[in-house]
Amino acid sequence: MPLTGLTIGCLGGGAMAQALLTGLIKSGVQTQNLYVSDTRRERLEFLHRELGVHTRANNSELVKESDVVILAVKPQVVEEVLEETGALFQPHQTLISIAAGIAIQFMESFLTHPVPVIRVMPNTPCLLGSGASALCLGTHAGARDRERAMAIFSAVGRAVEVPEELMDAVTGLSGSGPAYMYVILEALADAGVRVGLPRDVALLLSAQTMLGSARMVLETGEHPGRLKNMVTTPGGTAIAGVYALEEGGLRVTMMRAVEEATRRSREMSSALK
Ligand SMILES: NC(=O)c1ccc[n+]([C@@H]2O[C@H](COP(=O)([O-])OP(=O)(O)OC[C@H]3O[C@@H](n4cnc5c(N)ncnc54)[C@H](OP(=O)(O)O)[C@@H]3O)[C@@H](O)[C@H]2O)c1
Repeated sequence: MPLTGLTIGCLGGGAMAQALLTGLIKSGVQTQNLYVSDTRRERLEFLHRELGVHTRANNSELVKESDVVILAVKPQVVEEVLEETGALFQPHQTLISIAAGIAIQFMESFLTHPVPVIRVMPNTPCLLGSGASALCLGTHAGARDRERAMAIFSAVGRAVEVPEELMDAVTGLSGSGPAYMYVILEALADAGVRVGLPRDVALLLSAQTMLGSARMVLETGEHPGRLKNMVTTPGGTAIAGVYALEEGGLRVTMMRAVEEATRRSREMSSALK
């Protein structure tokens, strides 16, 4: 396991840090190797109590003690934190940032030494170990750093590597995607109610159908078009429903949603530079 014996520190102890630390513990990383720093003392006490990880009130101490530092503060705080700690990072460490929209080059500009940096875009289902994350490598990051990041984000879901110029597209698809899925789930549940199902039954059937279908795609490796063909019998119910989806322009609507979110991500990233 690429994380064996390494100390991992989360700089910022919010929702995402908690999700990552929980996933790492579940995947076998020992709590004695996990650290977290935060400006809020009660947050540190909570994380120590709940997870048993070491806590530090001082970010510099955390950076000095960690082989891998996960930068998990809000994007607006990244500059302040890197001004405080940038000179402390050493080339044997890996700096992994999950701050949305913060470019690798911007982070590297605060580092005194040639430190490997990895930028990651996770999504909220990481909180349940079912996240989708994409990562890209900085100037000094190599195979060792990629393996470290892959191991961390595979502990809270699935992870892929992309070039940095695709990070806005990732934000438009999987970063923003949970919102699209919730809208679809709510619409499906409404549809169930319209055809006579109680709302709780309709929502449970909708959500489990989405989960099961996603698992079919991921776990069988089959193309979704082929899986769709397998459940549409000639003249049957499913093809009647698919016809209505096509008539309503569902595919183009999904493409427009991702395109708009990608455009907005680009706009917001350039405002942060
Ligand atoms: N949540 C997601 O699904 C998601 C998805 C993709 C990417 N991200 C990225 O993940 C990062 C963290 O998100 P989050 O939802 O976990 O945020 P969060 O819950 O606000 O966590 C950030 C934590 O850092 C603390 N903090 C603020 N300033 C600090 C400083 N100078 N030094 C140390 N700690 C400091 C915050 O304290 P205060 O509350 O007192 O400020 C808070 O406890 C963000 O950059 C976000 O863009 C999140």
